[in-house]
Amino acid sequence: MDEDSRIADVADVPADSTLLFTIRDGFDEREAILTKTDEGEVAAYENYCQHWTDVRLDKGSGATKRDGELVCGKHGALFEDDTGCCTYGPCEDAVLQQVEAAVADGGVFLTDDDYEFVQVGSSMEYDLSSDRSLGFD
Ligand code: FES
Repeated sequence: MDEDSRIADVADVPADSTLLFTIRDGFDEREAILTKTDEGEVAAYENYCQHWTDVRLDKGSGATKRDGELVCGKHGALFEDDTGCCTYGPCEDAVLQQVEAAVADGGVFLTDDDYEFVQVGSSMEYDLSSDRSLGFD
């Protein structure tokens, strides 16, 4: 595996939340998340809800996870951590955009040909004042 594509150590991927990282497709940067499933596998998805695709599941401090499902803080959609499938909420049956990653030598590597690994965390700046919260829409 190419060290430039190493996202994190497997040990640093949380089972009860997510680890945020940034990927690039040409000039277009996007965010993605890693999470550990109950089976101990590492799953990788783009960090965007399938209801409103500009809403991030992990806003920088880890997405909420409950009983193996990622929770969108906006309207409460639940996504299975191992399939990315929405089991409840306004986008039920929609599926999170998967990002290809593989585990090797104790690390998680980005193996998706569509993206380059940029960094752990977000490289983007957000205007937090415009982030509408649950219940005000
Ligand atoms: S934006 Fe995620 S549930 Fe509505």
